[in-house]
Amino acid sequence: MNLSIAILAAGQGTRMHSDLPKVLHPLGGRPLLSHVIDTAHAFDGADLHVIAGYGAARVQSQCDASGIHWVEQTEQLGTGHAVRQVMPAVPDDHTMLVMYGDVPLITAGTLAALTAIAETGHVGLLTAVLADATGYGRVLRDVDNHISGVIEHQDASDEQLAIKEINTGFLAAPADKLRRWVDALANHNVQSEYYLTDVISMAVSEGVAVKSVMPADNHEIMGVNTRAQLAELERCFQWRQAAQLMDAGVTLMDPARFDLRGSLKTGQDVVIDVNAIFEGDVTLGNGVQIGANAVVRDSVIGDDVVVLTNCVIEHAEIGARSHIGPFARIRPESRLAVETHIGNFVEIKKSDIGARSKINHLSYVGDTTVGERVNIGAGTITCNYDGANKHRTIIGDDVFIGSDTQLIAPVKVADGATIGAGSTITRDAPANELTLSRAPQKTRSGWKRPVKKK
Ligand code: UD1
Ligand code: CA
Repeated sequence: MNLSIAILAAGQGTRMHSDLPKVLHPLGGRPLLSHVIDTAHAFDGADLHVIAGYGAARVQSQCDASGIHWVEQTEQLGTGHAVRQVMPAVPDDHTMLVMYGDVPLITAGTLAALTAIAETGHVGLLTAVLADATGYGRVLRDVDNHISGVIEHQDASDEQLAIKEINTGFLAAPADKLRRWVDALANHNVQSEYYLTDVISMAVSEGVAVKSVMPADNHEIMGVNTRAQLAELERCFQWRQAAQLMDAGVTLMDPARFDLRGSLKTGQDVVIDVNAIFEGDVTLGNGVQIGANAVVRDSVIGDDVVVLTNCVIEHAEIGARSHIGPFARIRPESRLAVETHIGNFVEIKKSDIGARSKINHLSYVGDTTVGERVNIGAGTITCNYDGANKHRTIIGDDVFIGSDTQLIAPVKVADGATIGAGSTITRDAPANELTLSRAPQKTRSGWKRPVKKK
């Protein structure tokens, strides 16, 4: 198929009250326009033109996918004027499909029905029936119920305003005809704009039939003009993703309280509790359980891992059968081997934790290599930063670190070593010995507590 696609994305989006161009507002963590571009890419081999205007450079730099022809519309003189900007780059024998950068949930299936009509030489127009059609262009039909035109809300009579069938804006037409029609548009209307919708009556007057297609779901045609509409589409998008995951066998304790801003690969029998947020690329193995309020970003979580409530995990790998949390923070470049236990109020950063090692309470472990079967007691801190540079702590296998220990990096604790509780370790600790640093304990006999003065 010789297909050219124009995506209109020049508007500012005044009602968003934002400095950000409207099409860059995120849906599921990615710009609205990126969703539309992805859907356009479903048409293999199509020429893709994006018309940018407000914040064009920013829009282009944040949505640049390969093979897009960017066109700048410096003044937004109307949807017809926008389409006119791309026509010089479109061959006569193409089918032309018009899409919108702020209508993110349109599906390739619905669009394919439009292009199929245009390939037979007619015009395909996507319409919908809305209970409240306020603001939309209304679809006009003749006595035989054939489409005869589209009238904008602002230009419509009271009788026309009662029509519930609206123009969604999406249309497909043979490029040679569309070129002629957009070139002939005038702006004699209430808004003094070049309306793309005026091509409908031009087509009809030339005897070219305009055939309508309706979307399977009206969310497909909803545009974003306000933050409230953006929020509504976000929920709809999240619901679609949640439904796909449930179809694939994932248990979501409440699909209405699930957010995926990126991609999530899941094994079998994964259970995700409420208010979990997944960002970037996340992989969950078989039997993984994710507790309430977890935030997991760009991480790989192995089979049968249990992540308890309120954990934040980013750029990390977590080995099979590990237990994390509640209230644990696993920061970037952390690799936890199998069967590790990371407990509450523990922060791990840029560290490797060996198999079956435990850090169960109130600790900071950063820039550290921990061997296997190590037990790190409550309140242990690796002092990795001297104010200028970061240094590593190396802990061997089968080490026991007593509670409230500070390890002043760079420092090594050899295999089998025991560190007495409350120690400040500044030099390497030898294998299989007890090492501790502790001020001697004193008792002052006869000492009296101060009392309040009368
Ligand atoms: C348009 C349709 C209306 C339809 C409605 C559906 C026209 C004349 N009217 O109206 O029939 O019911 O969409 O939402 O087409 N844009 C540009 N450059 C411009 C003008 C617009 O890129 O010069 C972009 C906007 O950024 C927006 C889209 O085109 O993404 C639609 O423009 P907008 O002005 O919102 O059209 P409506 O008045 O809503
Ligand atoms: Ca609009």
